[in-house]
Amino acid sequence: MKQAGMDQISLRLDRNRGYGIVIGHGITPCFGEWVKKVGGVGESGAGEKVGIVTHPRVMRLHGSEVIGSLKKAGFSPVLFFLPEGEQNKTLRAIDSLYDRLIKRRFERSSFLIAMGGGVIGDITGFAAATFLRGIRYIQYPTTVVAQVDAAIGGKTGVDHPKGKNLIGAFHQPLGVFIDSSVLRTLPKREFVAGLAEVVKYGVILDPKLFEFMEKNAKKILSGDEAAVLNCIKRSVADKAAVVEADEQESGLRKILNYGHTLGHAIETLTGYRQYKHGEAVSIGMMMAAQIANAVGIAKVDIVKRQQGLLQALGLPIRCPKLDPSAIINVMGLDKKVARGNIHFVLPERIGVVRVMGVQNRLLQGWVENFCSN
Ligand code: GLY
Repeated sequence: MKQAGMDQISLRLDRNRGYGIVIGHGITPCFGEWVKKVGGVGESGAGEKVGIVTHPRVMRLHGSEVIGSLKKAGFSPVLFFLPEGEQNKTLRAIDSLYDRLIKRRFERSSFLIAMGGGVIGDITGFAAATFLRGIRYIQYPTTVVAQVDAAIGGKTGVDHPKGKNLIGAFHQPLGVFIDSSVLRTLPKREFVAGLAEVVKYGVILDPKLFEFMEKNAKKILSGDEAAVLNCIKRSVADKAAVVEADEQESGLRKILNYGHTLGHAIETLTGYRQYKHGEAVSIGMMMAAQIANAVGIAKVDIVKRQQGLLQALGLPIRCPKLDPSAIINVMGLDKKVARGNIHFVLPERIGVVRVMGVQNRLLQGWVENFCSN
């Protein structure tokens, strides 16, 4: 089943919960056989209830290839459609999914396949974590953000009107199947936004990836197969290593939130409509770098280098006009708050970051400065 051009990165976890993340270009024809293997399904594949959770646009683009591959392996997948967009990552979506899973008589042994971006993955994972006290699921991510970040590591959940991802559970998938060829149908803006998460890995722990992006920004933007695949593989390896070391975010995993403290606040305050997740993270990384420089842990060169790369990739770097007090208020509701202090991941140099609690009094001035342009 493993074909040429298909790599596997293992994410090792205790209690047999580790899994493989397969990556390649144009590997979807192997998906069905791979599902059979990771699902521990017998030769025929029949009899095992499998649901695909997706939305109609992804279905139109990739459905026939994915379903064709599953059918060839003996599965008869049931389709569950959800509306698109972060504004629909709600408990209402979960509720509607539960209704349909019950109606189609899904059981403990059944499993779900999340086919889509981070929103589909997070909702599917959370439904899988909670339905019948937990069923299995597989990630088939179709956006850059989902392939390099959201689909890996078992964070599942939904948003609350007061903040992003406030409700959720850790529930690891059975495996992650990444076909980079599906990215060719992504709208350019969505593709570029996802690259912010790749820049994130560069800044927090992978200087070689950062340099690679600096040197190959044009190639990456043009969708060059090898350059894009390299960004995905390195990011996946980086993410897997962090999750292995700290699955439940009691320490190291916090560094993956680089740029997300302000990023989530921007998304929340603009109703999840104005900014793509990666765009908000890009702006958040710029503020974090400036704070790092202001508190004296990062030289100005770091700020400039990061800004140069984000701009070369066409990512936004400026905060929209938002009320600084509202920003601080929303940041204060985020999960990255401990004992009243908002925690920021701050770069010291490319590849090294530190998590620091920042006092509200100081933060007020920085947010006013950064967000008043
Ligand atoms: N997206 C951040 C994490 O998975 O921890």
